[in-house]
This record gives sequence, C-alpha cells and structure tokens, in this order.
Amino acid sequence: MKNNNFLTLLDISKMDLKNLILRAIELKKMIKQGVVYTPLQNKTLALIFDKSSTRTRVSFEVGMSHFGGNTLFLSHRDTQLGRGEPIEDTAKVISSMVDCIVIRTHEHNDVLKFCSKSSVPVINGLTELVHPCQLLADMMTFIELKGDIKGKKVAWIGDSNNMCNSYINASKQFDFNLSIATPKNFKPSLYNEKDNILLTDDPEIAVKNADLIVTDVWVSMGQEEEEEERKKIFKPLQVNNAIMNLANKDAIFMHCMPAHRDEEVTSDVLDSKFSVIWQEAENRLHAQKALLEYLLVKNN
Ligand code: CP
Ligand code: NVA
Repeated sequence: MKNNNFLTLLDISKMDLKNLILRAIELKKMIKQGVVYTPLQNKTLALIFDKSSTRTRVSFEVGMSHFGGNTLFLSHRDTQLGRGEPIEDTAKVISSMVDCIVIRTHEHNDVLKFCSKSSVPVINGLTELVHPCQLLADMMTFIELKGDIKGKKVAWIGDSNNMCNSYINASKQFDFNLSIATPKNFKPSLYNEKDNILLTDDPEIAVKNADLIVTDVWVSMGQEEEEEERKKIFKPLQVNNAIMNLANKDAIFMHCMPAHRDEEVTSDVLDSKFSVIWQEAENRLHAQKALLEYLLVKNN
C-alpha cells in the first residue's frame, strides 16, 4: 500500500479536505449524541513527540479512545531516538508494530526521513515548517460558525512561523484571501510572490475588512534563546481591540494556543465575544478523528 501521509495541507485534495471538514462536523454531532462508533478497534497510533504538547496529544489520544483504538506516547527522552538511533531505523521498527504515527519535532526534513522508511501513514503533529492538524480545526471552526470560507478574507498578524505557513497552504486549498502582517525581514518561508497574498508590515492594512484574524506566539518552541529580541521586534504586531475594530464587524479571532496573554494578543481580545479559541481548541479532537478515519478507514 502506498502510504497516505498527512505532512502538509497540500497532501489532501481540495475536495477531500472539504469532505473531511464536513465529516468532522458530523463526528462532533455523533459524539455529543452519545453515538458509539469504533472503526479503529485493535489499531494503535504512536505519538512520537520531541516538543511539548497539550492539545495535539490530548486530542489524538482521546480521538483514538473514541474510535476503540489505542495510543502509545513516545517522547525522545524515553526512546533510543534521544540517544542517537537513526530516524530511518526507528521508523522501520515502530511502523512494523503500529498502524499510524504522529510526529512532532523540530526539522520538517526529519519527518520526511521518517516517512521514507515508514510502512504506515505518518501525520505531522507540528514541525518548524507547518502545523497542518491545527488548520483542520481552524477551518472546521470557521465553517461551523460562518459557513464556507471561500472568498472570505483572513488576516494573519504576527510571526511568520509554522502557523503562518499553514495559513498560506490553507488559502490555496480553501480558496480564501490571505493578508499577512509580519516585520519586513520575516517573510514566511512558504510565501511566493506569484500567490495572491498581501504581505505587509502594517497590521492595520492587513486587518482591513477581514472576516478572520489569527495570530500565534512570537517565540515558538525551539526559539527560547531569542525571546527578548523577538518580543521587541513583534511588539507593533499585537492584536488588540484597536486592530479588531478595523476588521469586519462580525469578524472572529483565532489562536492555536497556548497564548501569551497581553503579548501577541490582549486578554480583552482573547476573552471577547469575537474570540472562538475554545471551540477552535475542542475542534482539534473532531477534525483529527475525521483525519484518522480518512487515512486509516476510508483511504485504505
Ligand atoms: N495548538 C497546539 O498544537 O497546541 P499544543 O502545543 O498544546 O499541542
Ligand atoms: N508556533 C508555535 C505553535 C504551537 C502550537 C510553535 O511552534 O511553538
């Protein structure tokens, strides 16, 4: 079987992504109605995490539990990966015993190396390049609250990090207009001038007429040494009420969390009626259940 990996949003066709989101909304309704649906009995999902996580770990573990399967959480500290066993050898061994693997690590290239030897589907649980699982939840949340995102305007304000890159991919797959406000020397690595994306260092320009405003931390995992410098650089890009007031009146605010209150976003905005961060976080569970079903049941 050819592996069905989910390393970036571009790995799934537009049509399949759209259906996956609709299925996530259906799975959410089913679990709330107490419907028991266990398509992954006797299946095991391994979670190989070299970075901290609350939402990603909990959502995958609970999702597998709903589906009747098992999970195995493996941190670099407790496996031989942390002592230098090659990624490719690890991939061959672990994939010979489990049915699917989620990896959260630093370098995207390490995930590609892992995939080259894995005999089962691999899901990107976050790398320095992208965080595609988060975008499934973000798109699901927008669609639940506002309907189709096609043709809508999304403003990304802040660091040009893995989440920003994921919004660039999402704008292509879900056909929304994206504007990005980030400092001049922080052009996102996946930004291409040919894409129809507005890139500016002025958050007031980016946010004009936006339907969705998104930000993320200024210091991502692995950048802790640059903390003081980054806080100074990104200060003009804080999402606050003044910025939100320039967006469309019914605009919503998202943040993948964890959020640094009163740094990249003020507490007023996080706790305002525009903020949908709690629904967004919960939707990690439902969206990833739809992803697991897509990779392990439907597409198998
Ligand atoms: N948003 C997100 O991926 O959160 P965690 O780092 O807690 O998994
Ligand atoms: N950009 C953040 C996202 C955390 C979910 C990081 O990579 O640390």
